Amino acid sequence: MPATIISGSAIARTIRQEIAAELTAIKEHHGLIPGLATILVGEDPASQSYVAAKNKTAHTLGIHSEQITLPATTSEEELLRIVEQCNRNSAIHGILVQLPLPRHIDEARVLFAIDPAKDVDGFHPVNAGKMMLGQHCFLPCTPNGILELLQRTGIETAGAEVVVVGRSNIVGKPVANLMLQKRLGGNATVTVCHTRTRDMAAHTRRADILIVAAGVAKMIKAEQIKAGAVIIDVGVNRIGRTATGKAILAGDVDYDDVLNQAGAITPVPGGVGPMTITMLMRNTLQAAKQAAGLL
Ligand code: GUN
Repeated sequence: MPATIISGSAIARTIRQEIAAELTAIKEHHGLIPGLATILVGEDPASQSYVAAKNKTAHTLGIHSEQITLPATTSEEELLRIVEQCNRNSAIHGILVQLPLPRHIDEARVLFAIDPAKDVDGFHPVNAGKMMLGQHCFLPCTPNGILELLQRTGIETAGAEVVVVGRSNIVGKPVANLMLQKRLGGNATVTVCHTRTRDMAAHTRRADILIVAAGVAKMIKAEQIKAGAVIIDVGVNRIGRTATGKAILAGDVDYDDVLNQAGAITPVPGGVGPMTITMLMRNTLQAAKQAAGLL
């Protein structure tokens, strides 16, 4: 029997309706309109399309959004100055600096400059530290989106063997951390695999829930997963172009190969991606409410 398809698009739509209802309420009762600033440095096509999607979703929901687009030659000092302007702008409640940044810019320094109260990506060390300790904070969007997907699909994580492939600061490390926490949606036994893991298949084959965020197109095949496993594919790899020039996307999991082996799977596109954007909207709403003393 083929795997159940976990539609991130459908789940994200439901959550966006919840967000829209709250946005209407805070506007009506408090005159509050959340504001999001997105900062994109350079012309990376993938980053351009992610930032455009974030701004479009914000606009559709009625979140005020400002896209700041800067050339790849922007200096670190100039970027820090712009972040500081956003920190001081009371119409902006959330700041997102799209990663990766050009190599001449120190990413850690820029992320550290963002006001932790406006850090809707959850990348500032204050928020990353609070997350690790299980304290209230902005949770990073992709890991939080994965937890929401699992919860809203009714997939039990308590006691589950969760294997994460990839150890990035954006996905692998935080999702592993969240899934092992003593809370709803956590309580899993977590293994993290990476480029130096010996015999990766020995680990992935044990997974009840396999989360793949390695950035390598179609790297996970049917023989690397357990029958009935839940597969969360975070990969978005551009593997070619259609005749009309549109990018052809593939996940880190070979979808067609694993379809009859997996129990459930997120598609690419339409799986984790829409959840990431939706969690960003929810964090922006949370930031605005916190700034207004409503939380
Ligand atoms: N690059 C890839 N994913 C993300 C994300 O969630 N936030 C930011 N700021 N950059 C990214």
